[in-house]
Amino acid sequence: MTRFLFLLLFLIPTSLLNGQSRSTQVYDNGLVVSAEVYASEVGKQILQQGGNAVDAAVAVQFALAVTLPRAGNIGGGGFMVIQLADGTSTTLDFREKAPQRASRNMYVRNGEFDPELSWEGILASGVPGTVDGMVTALERYGRMPLELVIQPAIDLAQNGYYLSYTQAQELNSRFNTFSKYEGSKKYFTKEDGTPFKEGDLFIQKDLSEVLEQIARYGRDGFYSGSVADAIVQQMREMGGLISYSDLRNYSSKWREPVKARFQDYELSIMPPPSSGSIAVYQILDMMDDYALSELGHNSADYVHLMAESMRRAFADRSFYLGDPDFNDIPKQDLLDPKYNHARMIDFSMDTITHSSALSHGEFSNNYESDETTHFSIIDRDGNAVAVTTTLNGSFGSKVAVNGAGFLLNNEMDDFSAQPGEPNAYGLIGGEANSIEPGKRMLSSMTPTIVTKDGKVRMILGAAGGPRIITATLQNFLNIAVFGMNAQEAIAANRVHHQWLPDILFYENYGLSPDTIRLLEQKGHQLRTMSIARGHLIYIDPDGKKSSGVDPRGDGHAAGF
Ligand code: GLY
Repeated sequence: MTRFLFLLLFLIPTSLLNGQSRSTQVYDNGLVVSAEVYASEVGKQILQQGGNAVDAAVAVQFALAVTLPRAGNIGGGGFMVIQLADGTSTTLDFREKAPQRASRNMYVRNGEFDPELSWEGILASGVPGTVDGMVTALERYGRMPLELVIQPAIDLAQNGYYLSYTQAQELNSRFNTFSKYEGSKKYFTKEDGTPFKEGDLFIQKDLSEVLEQIARYGRDGFYSGSVADAIVQQMREMGGLISYSDLRNYSSKWREPVKARFQDYELSIMPPPSSGSIAVYQILDMMDDYALSELGHNSADYVHLMAESMRRAFADRSFYLGDPDFNDIPKQDLLDPKYNHARMIDFSMDTITHSSALSHGEFSNNYESDETTHFSIIDRDGNAVAVTTTLNGSFGSKVAVNGAGFLLNNEMDDFSAQPGEPNAYGLIGGEANSIEPGKRMLSSMTPTIVTKDGKVRMILGAAGGPRIITATLQNFLNIAVFGMNAQEAIAANRVHHQWLPDILFYENYGLSPDTIRLLEQKGHQLRTMSIARGHLIYIDPDGKKSSGVDPRGDGHAAGF
C-alpha cells in the first residue's frame, strides 16, 4: 500500500512542481497547505487513508525534511499548535536547545564577538528537536503508527523526486558554501560540479536510511545508535559541541497556548519560547480601540497604527522574552490590556514615536533572508494542526552530517549571542535570551489556530524571521476585519516594523505613492522588502475549507 502511495507521488507532473495554482480552492473534507507540493500531497494521502490532522502533520514534516532541504528538517526544530474538534487545544515545543558545553561567550574570538560563528559552521547548531517532537505528537494524538506516516518520506528520499526550478536554483546558489563541507558537498552538489536543473531526479540514500532508523526505533533511531554516532563524529571532526548526552537528554515539551481574543475570535498561539504569541496579543490589544475597517486596508493611518503597535511590541520582545524554563517572563503584565493600552498613551495618528525614545538598543541595518517553513492542516473531523519548523537560515548551518544526509540548524543565532548586538535578522536581544546550556533560543515562529464559537476558523503561520509575527497578524486581520477570502488574505501586501532598525518595511508596489508620502509626513522611513511567506486555511461557518497559498513562494494546497 505504501509503495503504491509513493508511486502516485512519484508521478506528480513537473508542471505542478512550481505550485502555480493561485486561486482559492474550497474542499469539504481535509486540506493541507504547505510550502512544497510533494509534502502537501503526502499529507492529503495520509488524511485520505484515515489519518487525522496530527498523523498528516508528522508525515508532512518528515516529507519536508526530504523535499525542502533548505527549511524542512530533522536537524532543526519547531512548534506545533493543535486544536482538536473536541475543543482541546495544546502546543508542542520541539525547539532546539543549546548544548551543555555552550557558554555565554562562545562566539567571542580575541575579545571580539564574531557573528559568523553563530551563523555558519559546526558551532551554529543547537540540539535538534524535530524527531522527538514528531514522535511525541504522534504518540499522544496520532492514530497511525510511525512506520506508516514516515514511509512516504523514506520513499521520496530513496527513489528521489523531481527538483522544481526554485529548488534547483536554491541548491546552486549555495554551491561554494556546500563545497566547504564534506557531507554537504556530497549531498547537495553534483559530483561533476555542474548545476542542478529543474526536473533533475534528486535522490538522498543516506537520508532514507536515517528515516528508516527512525521508523524502526522511534526517537532512539535518531538520538542514539548510528545516527547519534554520525552527529557526534561530525562534532568531533569540526570542533562542535553537541554530545551523546545532549542528544539522549533532548525532550520536547507540551505547553499551554497563549489565548488572545479579538472581536468574537479566540486565537490559540504558540507561547514562549515563541515571541509571536505575546507580540501578536499585544499588537491586537494596542489596535483594539480603533475602528480598523473604517481606516481601510493599508491606508496610511491603518499602516501607521499597525507600525506603531508593532514598534512597541518588538521593544518589549527584546527586553522581556526568552526561554520560559530559564526566565520569569512577566506574561501577566504583557498580556494585560491595561498595560498595552498604556503603551499607546503617547501614540499620535499624525506622527511616529522614534524607537530611540521607546527603549534602549542599538540601530542595525543587518537583515538577511530567512528560511523557516509553515504548514496548516485540517482533517474531515475538524481537528486542526499548525506547524512552523526551521533550520533558521536557508540550509541552516550549511553543514550536513556526513553519512546521515541531513543538514544541521544554525539556530544558535536566535540567541542574543551577545546581548545588545543584533542577530542576523537585526533583532536586538536582552539577557533573557542570552546563551545558557540547555536553554531554548527565542523564536518568532507563530503557529496560530483561530476559533469562533468553539469551531476552528483559521489555521495560520508563516516563514520569515521576525516578519512571521507581523505577517501572521496581518493575514488574520485581513480575514477578521476586512473580510478577504483565504487567498486574498495571504496574497495582500504586507508591512513590517520591528522597533529596531527604526524602518517601516513594505513590499514592492505594496503601497501607493500617495500612501507612502503620507507615511513619510508622519515621520516614517520606508524601505521595501518581501515580507514572509504564510500558508493558511480558512474554514467558513458551514465547514467548507479554503486554502491560502502564498504567491511569494512555491506552496501548494492539497485537499479533497
Ligand atoms: N529561526 C527563526 C525563528 O525561530 O524565529
